[in-house]
Amino acid sequence: KRPFIAIAGSLNMDLVVSADRQPKLGETIQGSSIDQVPGGKGANQAVGCARLGAHAAMIGCVGNDDFGVRMLDNLTHNGVDSQAIAVLEDVPSGIASITRTPEDNCIIVVDGANGRCDGAAVNRHAGVLERADVLLVQLEIPLEGVRTAMGLASGGDATVILNPAPAQALPEDLLRLADYITPNESEWELLSGTRVRDDEALRTSMLEWERRLGSKVVVTRGKDGCSYLEEERLVTVPAPATEVVDTTGAGDTFNAALAYALGSGTSLAAAVELAIRCASLSVRRFGAQGGMPTGEEAGLA
Ligand code: RIB
Ligand code: NA
Repeated sequence: KRPFIAIAGSLNMDLVVSADRQPKLGETIQGSSIDQVPGGKGANQAVGCARLGAHAAMIGCVGNDDFGVRMLDNLTHNGVDSQAIAVLEDVPSGIASITRTPEDNCIIVVDGANGRCDGAAVNRHAGVLERADVLLVQLEIPLEGVRTAMGLASGGDATVILNPAPAQALPEDLLRLADYITPNESEWELLSGTRVRDDEALRTSMLEWERRLGSKVVVTRGKDGCSYLEEERLVTVPAPATEVVDTTGAGDTFNAALAYALGSGTSLAAAVELAIRCASLSVRRFGAQGGMPTGEEAGLA
């Protein structure tokens, strides 16, 4: 069945400067290009879900400015339901300043309108959350907005996926509302308070978390793929090797595909396999949303 996925989160215009390498502190170097492409973890994940064929409804805020118009157009163009996105008068749209090199990227986010996506703003769209099969949330909107979305969605029996990015310590009552949590390795170290020295340290920390908080943990590990627990055993799914143009948004693609698969009733093992495959496809094109696969490109029936 076609899953109904609600995404509560950020929309940013990504201002991407490409260079051969990152500058050192205090250094000026020559870049090769600047591009403006729609991004923001919330919008990226919404587009990822819609491309795969989900009904994706996004809750968020933009400013009444050119970036806001372009970001809304982009969602519509990608088939995302954007009726629950507020256009605010007295605040600019969110932006992300990204320096991208062939190896990595550095990002500074200025939240702008995303900072207004608080509990009250999210609550206005309770109907969307209560109807959802899956809720996907990240941490680029105020925590009260995240908590409200998770509370309403779990009340309506949705599967709640929390992508705890960018890294931030989180209160336990919020964490308990998640069914799945999808940190990368450094986010996991911050949340769990353990150093991921090796697989056994990772396994122990995940097991302790799952017992204490009742949510499943899926840790993304960049080009090493991702790990989860199956009956207390650590399963690591490798990422297919691929040519890399831009890693921005790979994590968002992973989360979108995971949400799509879980919302379609797939097992966790199959969902993770699809998510890794989609994330690998996504890095082959420029921009956070550039390489996100359609259902057909991802090999879905
Ligand atoms: O996850 C990638 C996203 O993080 C970018 O699109 C940028 O907007 C930042 O929010
Ligand atoms: Na990409």
